Amino acid sequence: MAQGKLSKEETLAMRNRLIGQSCRLFYSDRPVKIVRARGQYLYDENGERYLDCISNVHHVGHCHPSITKAAAAQMDVLNTNTRFLHDNIVLYAERLAATLPEKLCVFYFVNSGSEANDLALRLAQQYTQHQDVIVLDHAYHGHLMSLIDISPYKFRKLTGQKEWVHVAPLPDTYRGIYREDHPDPGQAYADTVKEIIDGVHMKGRKISSFFAESLPSVGGQIILPKGYSVKVAEYVRSAGGVFVADEVQTGFGRVGSHFWAFQLQGEDFCPDIVTMGKPMGNGHPLACVATTVEIAGAFTANGVEYFNTFGGNPVSCAIGLAVLDVIEEEDLRGNATRVGAHLKDLLKKLQTRHEIIGDVRGVGLFVGLELVTDREKKIPATKTAALVVKRLKEEDRICASTDGPWESVVKFKPPMCFSMKDAELVVECIDRILTEIKANDLKLDKKDI
Ligand SMILES: Cc1ncc(COP(=O)(O)O)c(C=O)c1O
Repeated sequence: MAQGKLSKEETLAMRNRLIGQSCRLFYSDRPVKIVRARGQYLYDENGERYLDCISNVHHVGHCHPSITKAAAAQMDVLNTNTRFLHDNIVLYAERLAATLPEKLCVFYFVNSGSEANDLALRLAQQYTQHQDVIVLDHAYHGHLMSLIDISPYKFRKLTGQKEWVHVAPLPDTYRGIYREDHPDPGQAYADTVKEIIDGVHMKGRKISSFFAESLPSVGGQIILPKGYSVKVAEYVRSAGGVFVADEVQTGFGRVGSHFWAFQLQGEDFCPDIVTMGKPMGNGHPLACVATTVEIAGAFTANGVEYFNTFGGNPVSCAIGLAVLDVIEEEDLRGNATRVGAHLKDLLKKLQTRHEIIGDVRGVGLFVGLELVTDREKKIPATKTAALVVKRLKEEDRICASTDGPWESVVKFKPPMCFSMKDAELVVECIDRILTEIKANDLKLDKKDI
């Protein structure tokens, strides 16, 4: 069994010396060294097994044999860049096209979600000849400078907001400005985007795009209210802009009922640009931008070649094709629907016994558990959420993490092979931890802020 070449202490010491300290580890006070993985399980250097509740990258399961086989077979034959004709890229593009609305039929292959979003920004600006971008509050779209600029989650800690970037309220019906009790939160939140567009026009500026995750994840596992995207797209298009759906976290069937999370907004809704990444290559760096003939045409018309050394190479595309096969063959969307519903049900039952659980939300295997110290005031229980994650790892060997503006949402985005038993185990462990926290009257978070 793989042990790793170095002891855990040696690895950590070398990492501290050689790797930039802003590249943080999970569980930085007591990091875990993982030496192998399979399915939804990770194994440390002592052979201890951890249940992975958060890796939405290893979508069809860690080290899936069909994926490694496809990669090795293609690697053994050819790997070039895309300036030679090759079957894999076109066959893969055709398979992706079959999952998307007909209009989204031109593809650019890249190596990461950040590259995909950076290219989407360029496409939108080139097509519209406008500069300004509207994004959702707390959003994260990637680590390139262009994307830090459109990621409130990052730019607030760094350079601040650029004059061409506009932040719309997060359409969060649990703690946002319009909540479950609003008669039409989708319309109300869309109107906030319309107000931004009007304000931008008053300043003599023009909107190139509205850029949003189809289910905001860093924002706290948010489910967009019904009708929101359709209305926003209408407002943005009438201002001459385009709608970009960031599906980097949510694509490839994670929501179960649909292949893409934007489809939750209705069969008629179609973005102008879709970006995809993380799950696409099951851990291999593979990402993509899908768009319309018109937008791609405008990009070509600028006369500048788009060349991406590794994007769409034969090995990446062989892996991408194998991922699509496994999703189908193993009915992973069906599994996400069934297991996700069971997980949500169990967490909802837990909510009736634990006052600290403010909200349980999600769709398919994209689920969030929001902890609050006071259900009325919805005060985030940030420290309790951190303690739950820590104890799940230390006591139960379960890897979970937190998200949301206050890091008070325990998130679940496991590999799609996550089982009913896995869901039951996680909920049992959370129940035990919350019961003990209550019994010991650990007042980790203040009731008032
Ligand atoms: C929604 C979203 N978009 C884009 C990115 C950037 O992707 P990458 O890290 O592959 O560059 C991320 C990464 O976390 C993401 O969550």
